Amino acid sequence: MSIRPVLRMGDARLLESAAEVTDFASGELSGLLQDMRDTMQEHSGAGLAAPQIGVPLRVVIFGGCENIRYPDSGVVPYTELINPHIEILDETREEGWEGCLSVPGLRGEVPRFVAIRYSGFTPEGERIECVAEGFHARVVQHEVDHLDGILYPQRMTDLRRFGFEDVLDL
Ligand code: NI
Repeated sequence: MSIRPVLRMGDARLLESAAEVTDFASGELSGLLQDMRDTMQEHSGAGLAAPQIGVPLRVVIFGGCENIRYPDSGVVPYTELINPHIEILDETREEGWEGCLSVPGLRGEVPRFVAIRYSGFTPEGERIECVAEGFHARVVQHEVDHLDGILYPQRMTDLRRFGFEDVLDL
């Protein structure tokens, strides 16, 4: 078990596109996932992408229960997703508040597609496909954005809806 430091906004590595995983059987991938789980749990995150701990690979984890930062996140099943792809099922976007372990202390309101189908692979290399709506769809879009070097403030359309979580009245 190892809790890794989370890179913070301003670090150029968070702006890079990550590479696809090609070797599923490697101990490197299972070690990475273990560190990601430990790191997400330590910070009570709703999700974590490998580039946030400085590993430029297309690996995200999200969901699980007992999340104090996001009371609604219990509805999102814990998922480890490799080489994800998102297909938009509904072009409607909905505003919702987000935070990010790479943007600590802040929250912003971000428009996201309300319904998506995501696909990808399990750490064992088996194909996953899932339809997600609402908060579940939001978390997946947020995490997959990290793989393309996008942090949620870059998706915001109204920066007046951005502030410190201990000041905002949410
Ligand atoms: Ni994030």
